[in-house]
Amino acid sequence: MYYDNSDIRQKIMIRNNLFSYHLNKDICIEYFAGEGVLTKMFWANVCKNVICVEKEQSKINKINLQNVTKYIGNNIDFIELSENIEIIDCDAYGLVTDFIRKILEVSKTKQKIIFFTDGFFKVQKKLKHLKYNFEDIVKSLYPDKYFYEKALGGNVYYGYLYYNNL
Ligand SMILES: C[S@@+](CC[C@H](N)C(=O)[O-])C[C@H]1O[C@@H](n2cnc3c(N)ncnc32)[C@H](O)[C@@H]1O
Repeated sequence: MYYDNSDIRQKIMIRNNLFSYHLNKDICIEYFAGEGVLTKMFWANVCKNVICVEKEQSKINKINLQNVTKYIGNNIDFIELSENIEIIDCDAYGLVTDFIRKILEVSKTKQKIIFFTDGFFKVQKKLKHLKYNFEDIVKSLYPDKYFYEKALGGNVYYGYLYYNNL
């Protein structure tokens, strides 16, 4: 069973990779913001301003911080918000790489780091004959640097993609 907050320590350790890069920390955007565990434990302390996007109102209502701006609805309808932002979080249950592709399509920044949770591992386990592996999919997003690993307690991958001079 995979819960919103499973492996929070592992997720935060991956997000600490942020400090290896010189990124603009004035603002970050967290799609799939949920009840804001990552926002409260990490993003709101690291970035001056945080944008949270979440489709479930009852979840996002639990985020009440002065430096957080909230948007309720489908992430895709708020894709343009990420255009000029260098730090992006996509902590999804499901497959997130198509959404990341859309972020890259609208991006206007020279650098970008995108942290993710992706459910491909779940699909892989079910469909053993699957032609692709997650490595192929990550490489097809052409990051300059990347990292991913299996979640300690679940059927997902945690990782990040870093882009320079997009
Ligand atoms: C793994 S949870 C996020 C946990 C959150 N990052 C935290 O730290 O508390 C995934 C969230 O994505 C939301 N979600 C799924 N699909 C979405 C979509 N298309 N647009 C917006 N939110 C979505 C779900 O409602 C769920 O709250």
